[in-house]
Amino acid sequence: MATESDVLDALKHVIDPELHTDIVDLGMVSNVRIDGGVVDVGIALTIASCPMRGQIETDVERRVAALPGVDEVVITTGVMTQEQRSTLMERARMNARENATPTAVAPSTRVIAVSSGKGGVGKSTLSVNLALAIADQGHTVGLLDADIWGFSAPRMLGATDTRLAANEDRKIVPTEIKGIHLVSTGLLLADEDTALMWRGLMLSKAVEQFLNDVAWPADLGYLIIDMPPGTGDVQMALARMLPQAEMVVVTTPQLAAQKVAARVADMARRSHMPIVGVVENMSGFVADDGKRYDIFGKGGGASLAADLGVELLGSVPIDVRVAEGGDSGDPVVTAHSDSPAGIELTSIAKRVTEILPPLALDSCIGRLATL
Ligand SMILES: Nc1ncnc2c1ncn2[C@@H]1O[C@H](COP(=O)(O)OP(=O)(O)OP(=O)(O)O)[C@@H](O)[C@H]1O
Ligand SMILES: [Mg+2]
Repeated sequence: MATESDVLDALKHVIDPELHTDIVDLGMVSNVRIDGGVVDVGIALTIASCPMRGQIETDVERRVAALPGVDEVVITTGVMTQEQRSTLMERARMNARENATPTAVAPSTRVIAVSSGKGGVGKSTLSVNLALAIADQGHTVGLLDADIWGFSAPRMLGATDTRLAANEDRKIVPTEIKGIHLVSTGLLLADEDTALMWRGLMLSKAVEQFLNDVAWPADLGYLIIDMPPGTGDVQMALARMLPQAEMVVVTTPQLAAQKVAARVADMARRSHMPIVGVVENMSGFVADDGKRYDIFGKGGGASLAADLGVELLGSVPIDVRVAEGGDSGDPVVTAHSDSPAGIELTSIAKRVTEILPPLALDSCIGRLATL
């Protein structure tokens, strides 16, 4: 059962998009009340008509709903007094000064960790295509290949001959490929086989370095993280360093073993990462004669989504062009954007950016200054 302090801890992960500080620290949480499975959260907004209001409310709901034993989240919003507003602005300014960002990723960057309960289901394929499709919407997108020794993003994007460079501050500069900013151990090593030598490396340390020592673009709207198979270490390291991270879960149509759902839910709970939704991959094969074959079964995505209490973001069919795109460095979402798989991946990207709209677009600060 969640306690009041659990709720406050969860709310520390809700970042005011403009002030770049969490809402607890900013004094925007006016009260928390728990009554059985119902959690009441009072939020004091800077100004009532702030365009960010809906987003803050949604983020609060998602974070609190992810806590164990919470059935319902009731949010009551109020408006701060002039005095409270001054304190808040003071606090935000102080934080901005003192808190050189803990990672090189801005708090206003939406971070999406593409995970699964088991390997080989299409995490890397989805990560790469999602990154390209979101970039195509006009956002600045980064792709972090957190699969340190099983990296595949460079090959999938056709960047195998590229190596990462460093800037004058000795930070790694992501490789710009097909309009996205890519970091992968594959761009550090001479060849894919050398990866074997990295086996002794501590995974979470490498990921930490990719977050601290990379000069991500300042206007990075979305950072997609291709997670390694398995659960645990890397998720924890990420959650600690990127409090805004959320998870997209990939699964196959096989009726999800209860085990998979339990594993994913456990991973989400321990890392405090809300789940954006589920993507079903390898969902059926449509032959030339139009006949559909459910090679890997049916219904697994919807059932996992229901078990996790999130939405099914889409179902990507089996298509040889998806696999070919990954091998040739020309992903299906751009190479065959009008194929059923391409269309579905574009629509999944659209849904993801609807649920997680870019932060720091509208400004309440300008209005605050004139109050
Ligand atoms: N919808 C699809 N249709 C056809 N082939 C696909 C599809 N999705 C993925 N594949 C292929 O399946 C294989 C596994 O996909 P991918 O590497 O993306 O999985 P993964 O979850 O990242 O694996 P790992 O757990 O090893 O990191 C790849 O060869 C990929 O090209
Ligand atoms: Mg992979």
